[in-house]
Amino acid sequence: ETPYETILVERKGRTALLTLNRPKALNALNLQVMHEIVAAAEELDRDPEVGCIVLTGSDKAFAAGADIKEMHPQDYMDMYLSDWFSAWDRLGRLRTPTIAAVSGYALGGGCELAMLCDILLAADTAVFGQPEIKLGVIPGIGGSQRLTRAVGKAKAMELCLTGRTMDAAEAERAGLVSRVVPAEQLLGEALAVAETVAEMSRPVAMMAKEAVDRAFETTLAEGVRFERRLFHAVFATADQKEGMAAFVDKRPPAFTHR
Ligand code: CAA
Repeated sequence: ETPYETILVERKGRTALLTLNRPKALNALNLQVMHEIVAAAEELDRDPEVGCIVLTGSDKAFAAGADIKEMHPQDYMDMYLSDWFSAWDRLGRLRTPTIAAVSGYALGGGCELAMLCDILLAADTAVFGQPEIKLGVIPGIGGSQRLTRAVGKAKAMELCLTGRTMDAAEAERAGLVSRVVPAEQLLGEALAVAETVAEMSRPVAMMAKEAVDRAFETTLAEGVRFERRLFHAVFATADQKEGMAAFVDKRPPAFTHR
């Protein structure tokens, strides 16, 4: 019924759940996984009934990296001409808020995939790292950039140069993840956060995401200017009228996502 072989797609109200499903390979991210995740996520992104997308893996592995067996035989021209991994960038351009729910290994491309999401929730079993250097390569899905922005230069350098991993507690201290929860509560917590986000005004949530994301791309003055323009723009939404009216009337808002 689903057109996908390596992922599962489920809908729960206004939340969509994407589950990596290559258990025998610890969810290693081959090109098929990449194309399926990106296609599924972009389809959900176009759906006005979807307010938040959760991406998760298995208990043992969110994803143990890009597929080493698939990359092993490739040469420079193969990588360059196919622009290997470039489709992953499209995940970072979704307008719908995304949550990575990470349990177990999030290594190499797995860590990079988690960092492509907007909110990163970790189980206490989560293990993060960019161990590519141990294979004689470097991160290729943005890890050297996003990890550095998330945890700072010293820790990013250490992880990328030694390949050592960090556990969930260290990842939270370093600011890579927003919260750590017991493994058995991870999915429930991620879906609860997703539902909270999905019940907010969809266009306003999109603008909030766009504003935060701009902080990674520009100067403080430009970012504040960008935020101010979006702040003014939300006053063109019906949901601003509703949200503020509901507060004044002491009742919950009924957003129409317009
Ligand atoms: N690619 C392909 N296959 C992988 C894989 C990967 N990244 N990670 C695990 N697998 C496969 C294993 O080969 C094994 O397959 P077989 O049963 O056919 O032998 C299966 O998944 C189970 O793995 P292990 O037996 O190794 O499981 P373990 O519990 O003993 O170890 C692990 C778990 C420590 C995560 C180990 O699997 C491991 O080190 N994996 C590789 C981690 C890694 O180096 N990731 C970075 C990849 S490079 C990258 O991601 C580049 C980039 O920037 C995008």
